[in-house]
Amino acid sequence: MLRRVAVGGATGFLGAYLCAWFASEGYEVLAFARGRDDAEARRRVREILDGIPDFGPIALDRVRVFAYDLAGGELPAEAARELRGVPFVNTIASLKHSEQHRAEIMDTNVEGTRRLLDALTAAGVSRLCHVSTAYVCGSAAGEVAERPIDVAGTAFNNLYEQSKATAEALLLAQSAIPVDIVRPSIIIGSSPTGWARNFTGYYGLYAVVRAAAHEVSQAFGGRRLAYLPLGLPGDPRACSDVVTVDYVADCIGRLVQCAATAPAGHDIMHVVSGAPRPTAYFLGAVESHLGLGGVEFVTPDRLTDGGTLERWCSARLRFNTSYTVRDYRFSDDRLRARLGAAAPSPSAVGPDVLWRVNDFFGACLEADAPVAPRDAERAAALASQFADRPGFLQKNGIEIDPRSTPAAAVAARVGQHIAP
Ligand SMILES: NC(=O)c1ccc[n+]([C@@H]2O[C@H](COP(=O)([O-])OP(=O)(O)OC[C@H]3O[C@@H](n4cnc5c(N)ncnc54)[C@H](OP(=O)(O)O)[C@@H]3O)[C@@H](O)[C@H]2O)c1
Repeated sequence: MLRRVAVGGATGFLGAYLCAWFASEGYEVLAFARGRDDAEARRRVREILDGIPDFGPIALDRVRVFAYDLAGGELPAEAARELRGVPFVNTIASLKHSEQHRAEIMDTNVEGTRRLLDALTAAGVSRLCHVSTAYVCGSAAGEVAERPIDVAGTAFNNLYEQSKATAEALLLAQSAIPVDIVRPSIIIGSSPTGWARNFTGYYGLYAVVRAAAHEVSQAFGGRRLAYLPLGLPGDPRACSDVVTVDYVADCIGRLVQCAATAPAGHDIMHVVSGAPRPTAYFLGAVESHLGLGGVEFVTPDRLTDGGTLERWCSARLRFNTSYTVRDYRFSDDRLRARLGAAAPSPSAVGPDVLWRVNDFFGACLEADAPVAPRDAERAAALASQFADRPGFLQKNGIEIDPRSTPAAAVAARVGQHIAP
């Protein structure tokens, strides 16, 4: 008999990858995605699945797509009938995090989860695998265990974490269906190809360093820079945990496949690399891909310079900074106990994997509209600031001696190269 699984959020980064993973394992996949009707939802999902290079031709006829929006809550009647006795993997979420998006975040991640649970209970699914995040721990320090979160007693870094923790508590307290809460750390593109779709989290670092290098380069007439002395908010010794999307899909896929080892009740599992790396390691991989040196994490209390570019980078990295100043380590004992010999080898996020991940993202950025030129005044100010930074002119082979040429004059000379 054809094995069947359902995936909610089939147009998302993880959801699409999971649909492809299950289809390539021979599952019939009931995929749920937003769209005006099933045909539009199907078009959206298929376009994304076609673009994942990891699986070869995906048997798309095994992926049956239904239009579904959490805002309504009701499952399409035909889909509801087909879900009886089927495991459901839920990746639907809003990944926004700021107060201005409070209504969307809470309605999707908390109320939406409640509505989905009601619909899945009525449909009689066999088990719910709900994708949460390892960062429901908020600003906790030390090794974080796979335990329920005390929502009221946790200091969250942002509304996203709070909403995900609240949804977990709701499911653990109210679900009559057995629930696996699966908590990945920071998800990046796939290890074989770098493919990704939702460029949040880790990608902010690459985007900011790239944009900063571009801007300073423009301020020096478009010269290619090898050295960018720039401080970013973070602690270079703090550890971050990053996992590839294929590893997360492997773990979730195997949890579904190993239904026989699942407990009768709820379970909570981290899906993490198990080998956290210092933040400086990830920054080094970004620099290496951009052919740069000189960028460093500086703890926010020491980041006093207040240079134009530092302020811009800090503002852009506000979300990331919560995760680059604290040392996060997560145990995954529950996941490994549950999967036993079926547990995949830990996700090794080596320099080669990060290169492919950065390469894929870099190519996506290239395909976007070019960065708009900044005004000449700002460019001249940047040129002036960077010309004065130790080693900048020399390491970039710029032959203007800042001791004999005042910074303002440097700025004036390079200013003429700047596009109006
Ligand atoms: N990415 C990470 O680094 C990371 C790390 C840890 C945990 N997670 C968790 O992993 C899960 C998947 O994340 P992701 O990175 O794949 O996010 P994503 O790419 O933004 O995917 C989210 C999915 O949810 C769907 N969705 C949003 N609101 C909906 C609604 N009202 N009704 C129906 N569908 C809706 C989106 O559909 P549309 O395409 O229509 O918008 C999309 O398919 C989330 O639970 C997230 O919290 C992610």
